Amino acid sequence: MDHFIYRQGRLHAEDVPVAEIAAAVGTPFYVYSTATLLRHYALFEEALEGSDHLICYAVKAASNQAILTTLARAGAGMDVVSLGEYLRARAAGVPGEIIVFSGVGKTADEIRTALSGGIRQFNVESEPEMEVVNAVALDMGKVAPVAFRVNPDVDARTHAKISTGKAENKFGIPIARAREVYARAASLPGLEVIGIDMHIGSQLTDLEPFRLAYEKLAELAEVLRADGHDIRRLDLGGGLGIPYARSNETPPLPHEYGAMIRRVLGHLGCEIVIEPGRLIVGNAGLMVTRTIYVKQGEGRDFVIVDAAMNDLLRPAMYDAHHDIVPVEEPAPGAAEHAYDIVGPVCETGDTFARARVMAPVSAGDLLAFRGAGAYGAVMASEYNTRPLIPEVMVKGDQFAVIRRRPSFDEILKRDTIPEWL
Ligand code: LLP
Repeated sequence: MDHFIYRQGRLHAEDVPVAEIAAAVGTPFYVYSTATLLRHYALFEEALEGSDHLICYAVKAASNQAILTTLARAGAGMDVVSLGEYLRARAAGVPGEIIVFSGVGKTADEIRTALSGGIRQFNVESEPEMEVVNAVALDMGKVAPVAFRVNPDVDARTHAKISTGKAENKFGIPIARAREVYARAASLPGLEVIGIDMHIGSQLTDLEPFRLAYEKLAELAEVLRADGHDIRRLDLGGGLGIPYARSNETPPLPHEYGAMIRRVLGHLGCEIVIEPGRLIVGNAGLMVTRTIYVKQGEGRDFVIVDAAMNDLLRPAMYDAHHDIVPVEEPAPGAAEHAYDIVGPVCETGDTFARARVMAPVSAGDLLAFRGAGAYGAVMASEYNTRPLIPEVMVKGDQFAVIRRRPSFDEILKRDTIPEWL
């Protein structure tokens, strides 16, 4: 469910007509609904209600501080994967005690900053990283709380580029080596082993891979406890998928996910941490663009919009589908037409949709890409010297720009021409 609906034929973001935002900030832009964000966060809270848990929003999905602040005020912890994300979360008012630090290549500097600013746990992904966390902690006279990310060798059945739980992926330590690694960790005075971490992939549309992975996790937790480790927290990662094509996708709901977690892991009595990103923010955001031209090609028509692959990379990168809807609602029963929806960048990859059937589009029409809240703005670049597009947040009948569009002057001034040239 989201808060982007037509009223009197005009697409609204909560109570604000999207066309009004377009007139105020120019296109293209991202717009987020706070009510949708909070609703999705609440769904996870409800799903895990009654069990000791913490929801750590995966900052990488959308990291604007207005989004982080919205979730932080609702009580969310954060999952960060870089120093920049850690600093963003802290700046948004999230205490270090509810920030987990994930990622396959944390540097000593990142570890040091997180240890001095406060951290709930490091999700350690390799033996060399374990040694560095230990060394940094000892150097600072601290003890670092750690969980190891174990790779369960489970097929997440999602896009290969966002699948992370197979043995061939770069993530985590092989589950078969876990006992050895935990034994070594227990002997290092700079580490306090508190639990186990896992994340098998993103945009999972089936609970089965999660279940298989969590069963392996439960087994491992018992084995490690028998070895004498105090396994008291299980971090289950993120990954629950969202319906990108509303007409035919029905991924599992958070409460079904929560029930499965209880069933498979409840008997262990551990604190449960989850790291959802996409499900919280994905359908809480639109990307809005204006049609520049409609052009007749050979056997196909192109809608050329003012957003491009640099603004929303997902279709080019993962062949991802986003529903695209007109901001002015078409009359019921209006004729439909197939279009290739493309951006102005000089690559064929700059194609958002092929043969998309929709009501007739004309130059000047505004179009909204649904499901653009997660991995949209954060993956944008200034390729083709196209300025990063603004982000806007809506709450009821109010809206505000939460990241403005940089001027060309700012962009040009970022480069320096060496004096010696
Ligand atoms: N935790 C860890 C350790 C992760 O690596 C990720 C996502 C998450 C949590 C959040 O997963 P989510 O709940 O959002 O599925 N750019 C890609 C998605 C990359 C996901 C990377 N890791 C896309 O646009 O589909």
